[in-house]
Amino acid sequence: MSRSAHPAGPRHADVLPEGHYSAPATDLNELDPKVWSRTVTRDADGALTVGGIEVARLAEEFGTPAYFLDESDFRARCRAWADAFGTEADVFYAGKAFLSRAVVRWLKEEGLNLDVCSGGELTTALGAGMPAERIAFHGNNKTVAEIERAVEAGVGRIVLDSFQEIARVSHIAQRLGTRQRVQIRVTVGVEAHTHEFIATAHEDQKFGIALADGQAAEAVRRALTLDGLELIGIHSHIGSQIFDMAGFEVSARRVVQLLAEVRDEHGVELPEIDLGGGLGIAYTSDDDPSEPHEIAKALGDIVTRECESAGLRTPRISVEPGRAIVGPTAFTLYEVGTIKPLEGLRTYVSVDGGMSDNIRTALYDAEYSVALVSRTSEAEPMLVRVVGKHCESGDIVVKDAFLPADLAPGDLIAVPATGAYCRSMASNYNHALRPPVVAVRDGQARVIVRRETEEDLLRLDVG
Ligand code: LLP
Repeated sequence: MSRSAHPAGPRHADVLPEGHYSAPATDLNELDPKVWSRTVTRDADGALTVGGIEVARLAEEFGTPAYFLDESDFRARCRAWADAFGTEADVFYAGKAFLSRAVVRWLKEEGLNLDVCSGGELTTALGAGMPAERIAFHGNNKTVAEIERAVEAGVGRIVLDSFQEIARVSHIAQRLGTRQRVQIRVTVGVEAHTHEFIATAHEDQKFGIALADGQAAEAVRRALTLDGLELIGIHSHIGSQIFDMAGFEVSARRVVQLLAEVRDEHGVELPEIDLGGGLGIAYTSDDDPSEPHEIAKALGDIVTRECESAGLRTPRISVEPGRAIVGPTAFTLYEVGTIKPLEGLRTYVSVDGGMSDNIRTALYDAEYSVALVSRTSEAEPMLVRVVGKHCESGDIVVKDAFLPADLAPGDLIAVPATGAYCRSMASNYNHALRPPVVAVRDGQARVIVRRETEEDLLRLDVG
């Protein structure tokens, strides 16, 4: 049958293996606390509530699609990370996962620092009152204007990513009559994703300066001689959605080796190392992420052990979790529009959003969960693919999941764990209006990023 040889999707010829999708063992009405934010539950009528508010009310007031962010969960996760790392280490929330002015205020109140990687993120951070010294500025090609603003504002650190940038930041800092605290981002030859990591000598990618061939040592040498820079440490970021600490172990070992070389060559013990972000979250019930205190202990032990064996004082550690803080705290609420059963294949459920509010499935083949949330159902499970309303067959939100067979247009369904890299990577494809982000807490819901309007779209179209 030709159509089963080419099901619509990002990967052509992704043929459904015979009998591969057995019906789920679990009750479809159950909401696995691993993938849903902490205040999510079902009320007596079976409807999902978050922060004490029922989804039908949220949909009525704010429309769909919309992201609902569980503010008390977000704050609790910030506190858990801050407490786990304590006063001897620093946690920088990676703003690229999701940033808004409300989020900046929450971070500030909960004692976290902030990693930004563009002028726009820097403006948001400073504008919402994050003290500049609690900001780290990242990026592999910061513009001169961005560097000037960061130095003028007095950001706590700029993470240098290339030889050109070492000279550029020093020059700008000197011109502005200051010395900028910096770290050098090195590539340690570790590529980590989920349960796998690869350790090599070389890395073929755009970020950082390679440890291999003495490149990073040369970068340190230059940074130490430039008057505009105060080199405070070395930075490494190895990947994303990582569950396995082995990649961090190799990375920390290689960074500590560099610190030892720097001590031997320059008589300087650099006081800090940053191990980046990348800690994984549960998108489906199969994922099993670690808690912040377990991660803090594992990273602390690795660095302490490596430093002891190199005869170095243990440097101050920093980390940059983005997804692990905001990812689990939000879900996207959609209304079901059409339902198309394809005999012998699966049922296509079209919702009122799609790849414009969640590009991760199309881009990374990401896995998500989905649930019927406006009611419970005792109907049989049916294999579905949740798709959006865009003019593209790869417009998939949830590739394979089960929903009750009595699903009907008008039902509300929700995709959990969409707090990270969904709104922040949202687009206006097909002139879609990007959905709002609504913060929900203790029975109150308020828009923190409003829904785009057609006027917003037309404002940029100068005619
Ligand atoms: N620090 C640095 C230097 C980074 O480049 C990143 C992410 C982070 C921290 C935060 O990583 P996290 O803890 O959030 O995994 N759009 C992709 C993820 C790209 C991550 C880029 N850098 C996704 O949706 O999976």
